Amino acid sequence: MGKLDVPWVRKEFPALEQTVNGQPAVFLDGPAGTQVPRQVIAAITQYFETSNANTCGAFATSRRSDAMLAEAHRAMADLVGCDADEIHFGPNMTTLTFALARAIGRDLGPGDEIVVTTLDHDANVSPWRALEERGVVVRQADIRVDDCTLDLDDLRAKINARTRVVAAGYASNAVGTINPVAEMVRLAHSAGALAFIDAVHYAPHGPIDVRALDCDFLACSPYKFFGPHTGVLYGKREHMLRLRAYKVRPAPDKLPDKWEVGTLMHENIAGVLAAVEYLAEVGRRSEAGPALVGRRAALARAYRAIQEHERGLAAQMLAGFLGIRGLKVYGITDPARLAERVPTFGVRLAGKSPLECAEFLGERGIFTWDGNYYALNLTERLGVEASGGLLRIGAVHYNTPAEIERMLAALEELAQS
Ligand SMILES: Cc1ncc(COP(=O)(O)O)c(C=O)c1O
Repeated sequence: MGKLDVPWVRKEFPALEQTVNGQPAVFLDGPAGTQVPRQVIAAITQYFETSNANTCGAFATSRRSDAMLAEAHRAMADLVGCDADEIHFGPNMTTLTFALARAIGRDLGPGDEIVVTTLDHDANVSPWRALEERGVVVRQADIRVDDCTLDLDDLRAKINARTRVVAAGYASNAVGTINPVAEMVRLAHSAGALAFIDAVHYAPHGPIDVRALDCDFLACSPYKFFGPHTGVLYGKREHMLRLRAYKVRPAPDKLPDKWEVGTLMHENIAGVLAAVEYLAEVGRRSEAGPALVGRRAALARAYRAIQEHERGLAAQMLAGFLGIRGLKVYGITDPARLAERVPTFGVRLAGKSPLECAEFLGERGIFTWDGNYYALNLTERLGVEASGGLLRIGAVHYNTPAEIERMLAALEELAQS
């Protein structure tokens, strides 16, 4: 197992030095977007200073932009385990998913079905539901409410010979459950359907291997894994070549250009490249071994170290939550099942709304979220939507046991007030 160099990690993130009301800020808001290391900030600045241009021009800055974009595709390919031309950048995951769903929907109509799940963020629900206007039926696979895990029997029952796409999250952004995605892909393919994975919430926490999963599409958002605000879509080459993208006529038909419509936000993509390099650096520092390890191997090491650190934080959070009177954790609470979740917790405190809790913590410099964070299917299913949703407390690898201790002490104080 790797060992995360936490003091080094924290020094890389300038934002972590902020204070609120005289207290160091505690960023437990990572599920809505993480902070960025200084390499990312420098890469964005450097892009503007040295390379700012549109693509494919016969001059230096344009050529540097082309080279940076090519390397960013290779970096994201290393992160998810595919070829560079199967990576597509876009404004964010939601926009990319609407574009893909709309293109897939061109060939669908009455009699076709799509399956989503109750655990999903709405960015993996509404783009598919938009196809209902074409007569497509969207079904929703349910969860087991007691631990907020996917009900695989219900998923099996919802998939049939009419199913064209199974679209599901890798991990829940509200309660942290990791879905059995390989099994979901297998079920989709056995019915002849395509498998789309929303890996936005999983990407900061665990390694992704699209070839091993055999999924057809996978989307993620670099601003959730220490990069800037952008989206990334992996699409299997055969599908991305076959499907008809909505694009302008002069834009190339080759991959990935066909799907990267309009001018991309180059400076942010320079930041994505730096974010992947940062993660690889985490890996190179975390495990003894050959120093000259390649980027994908370094990323695998990084995730081993990140997972070990985060499981420690998750165990600490769970133990602390279970000791606070009136606090209910939604999701997996069995400490023996930490491998089935990421350290994102959806909780409620008796007698206090999630907003009151988030405000109380926020005044003490502890950043959390309240509401549904667009996981609307889930907050409705859990019956908490009308009363303010959940308080979400999400750790990533730059968080420390001391920060978790402060958050738990503040919640305890609120519970007793
Ligand atoms: C699980 C999940 N999927 C999708 C999204 C949407 O991502 P984006 O903001 O890049 O559109 C989010 C954002 O919160 C998310 O947490």
